[in-house]
Amino acid sequence: MKDKIREIEQAALAEIGSSDSDRDSLEALRIKYLGRKGILAELFKKMAELPSAEKPEAGQLLNFFKNNLTKALDEKFSSSSELEKRRGGELDITLPGISERLGSRHPITKTINAICDCFISMGFMVVEGPEIETEHYNFEALNIPLEHPSRDAFDTFYLKTESSRVETGKPANRQTGKLLLRSHTSPVQAHFMENNKPPFSIIVPGRVYRPDATDASHSFMFHQVEGLAVSGKIKFSDLKGVLSVFTKQMFGKDTKMRFRPSFFPFTEPSAEVDISCVLCSGESSLTETGKPANRQTGKQHRCSMCGGKGWLEILGAGMVNPKVFENVGYDPKKVAGFAFGMGVERIAILKYGISDIRMFFENDVRFLRQF
Ligand code: DAH
Repeated sequence: MKDKIREIEQAALAEIGSSDSDRDSLEALRIKYLGRKGILAELFKKMAELPSAEKPEAGQLLNFFKNNLTKALDEKFSSSSELEKRRGGELDITLPGISERLGSRHPITKTINAICDCFISMGFMVVEGPEIETEHYNFEALNIPLEHPSRDAFDTFYLKTESSRVETGKPANRQTGKLLLRSHTSPVQAHFMENNKPPFSIIVPGRVYRPDATDASHSFMFHQVEGLAVSGKIKFSDLKGVLSVFTKQMFGKDTKMRFRPSFFPFTEPSAEVDISCVLCSGESSLTETGKPANRQTGKQHRCSMCGGKGWLEILGAGMVNPKVFENVGYDPKKVAGFAFGMGVERIAILKYGISDIRMFFENDVRFLRQF
């Protein structure tokens, strides 16, 4: 029996060694030797019939045989599957891989970061404020009295609850009264000035709300960045310098900037700031004859971005109204400041050439993936 076992083992190992290394041949060999009705099973049966004195040695030999065989088959199998893989049996290396989908920042976040980075480089500090405000901060503190027509421009959503916040040391009307969603970031000017002394320059990014019907250029929620710089001797030319650095950094060094007189209750004088059109660089405001388009009718081609005006409005600005300083307890004779406010979506639309504000809020990854 012992000799027979050894003989069969030699033959089996030789057969495995010389067999084809594909899966099917190896599986056939496994069944032939190690299967339920295989050669080893037969040998174990025969061992049971041996006289008990011979059983232990025969049993040991059979176990060695089984182990050697299993090992030989495993080795052959793993080398063969490696080979198969390399040959392209399981893994076709010519197929494109499954790429990792990396997330990216939302275009609005990117734009806010770019705006803030620019002002941080000029010494501004980033500050935030509450989205739920009292009427006082959204309006009165900014010199927008109850009956003033300009209040309409900053209309907003009111909350049903009245504020119950009354903090000691502050007039009750600043903490109580109707609660609302802020319609601009300008209220943060008042919060900051109440709690800090000049000189300072701050930049305030955040969400704002307006009861506007949604269309390609309006949304009930959007983002603004507010700027405020106050010191003993700030001038309008400082505002101009700071905004000129900003517009060039944001839209390219050849970007031109112009100030148009305007009105905001919280600044005096006030201005609206335009940049030369990012698409036509202001070219389309001239006809072939070199005269401004509005003096000619007919021939001129109209730029889709500026409608042929050559200029795009990007923000409101001005020198802080002395009334605002008084409202926060500053002495308007001792301090001066400039302020500005811009819509982030508007900047992003101009920077990336986006045609519809709703795209920012629809969460369509086909749009978002491009940023
Ligand atoms: N708060 C204004 C708005 O929402 C924007 C603005 C204009 C802010 C002029 C300012 C400013 O700080 O000086 O339309």
